[in-house]
Amino acid sequence: MIKKKDTLEISNLHANIGDLKILNGINLTIKSGEIHAIMGPNGSGKSTLCNVLMGHPKYEVTKGSAKFNGKEILDLEPNERAHLGLFLGFQHPLEISGVSTGTFLRLAKNLSLKANGETKQISPMEFMPILKQTMGLLKMDEKFITRSVNEGFSGGEKKRAEIVQMAILEPKIAMLDEIDSGLDIDALKIVAEGINETLKKTGLGVLLITHYQRLLNYITPDFVHVMAKGKIIKSGDKKLAKELEKNGYEEILKKAK
Ligand SMILES: Nc1ncnc2c1ncn2[C@@H]1O[C@H](COP(=O)(O)OP(=O)(O)OP(=O)(O)O)[C@@H](O)[C@H]1O
Ligand SMILES: [Mg+2]
Repeated sequence: MIKKKDTLEISNLHANIGDLKILNGINLTIKSGEIHAIMGPNGSGKSTLCNVLMGHPKYEVTKGSAKFNGKEILDLEPNERAHLGLFLGFQHPLEISGVSTGTFLRLAKNLSLKANGETKQISPMEFMPILKQTMGLLKMDEKFITRSVNEGFSGGEKKRAEIVQMAILEPKIAMLDEIDSGLDIDALKIVAEGINETLKKTGLGVLLITHYQRLLNYITPDFVHVMAKGKIIKSGDKKLAKELEKNGYEEILKKAK
């Protein structure tokens, strides 16, 4: 059930790495319950947009703003952004050796509860059934609970684990960067189901980065945007993704020049 409309409003966002300009004026507003898909050629800045919004220190924001429910987030630490309700499912999830997945998720959840004024913390005993149920939804074996975060996980297992993390943390706005890459045909459906379930349960807003229309057959986007050279050059609805699949980017890129 959607209780409250949360809004992430990105205005004229510019960002660099060193002297290299990567984002050149992004304007995008994402609200609770909305699914925005971003497609676009390799190297157009899609992952950069996610990283900048989450606060990766490598990038320098040179212009523009990103407001979450009216509050500027670009000067906050990544953990503060996470506690407000932003989540990033990585294109390339990192492996964290020596930290078990179960403990990592429980501690992250408890930190998030605490940061949001909850005095109650979830004990390992209380957490286990919640985690098992969530992993069950993503058809992940329970043995992953005791394995180190992402260590030695296959590409597809890492992507499922990102969605388990999202389902546990219940963010308000989730950015999912190529969550479909590396997934086999069945896993694609399972991951999409996991995203749809979380959407139904929490009403979060989703920014879905993908190269393939295929994922959008399972998760219906409200908006589809095309990004090129650090800008959104075209926006439309799900028909736009079908058009891109058929015709590629050439025409759209030419028109945007
Ligand atoms: N540390 C860096 N040094 C130099 N260039 C970088 C660095 N990080 C990113 N870039 C460049 O920034 C551009 C945007 O990269 P980004 O990863 O955001 O693209 P993307 O749209 O996510 O591409 P893909 O679809 O391949 O994932 C690329 O040309 C990339 O090479
Ligand atoms: Mg990328």
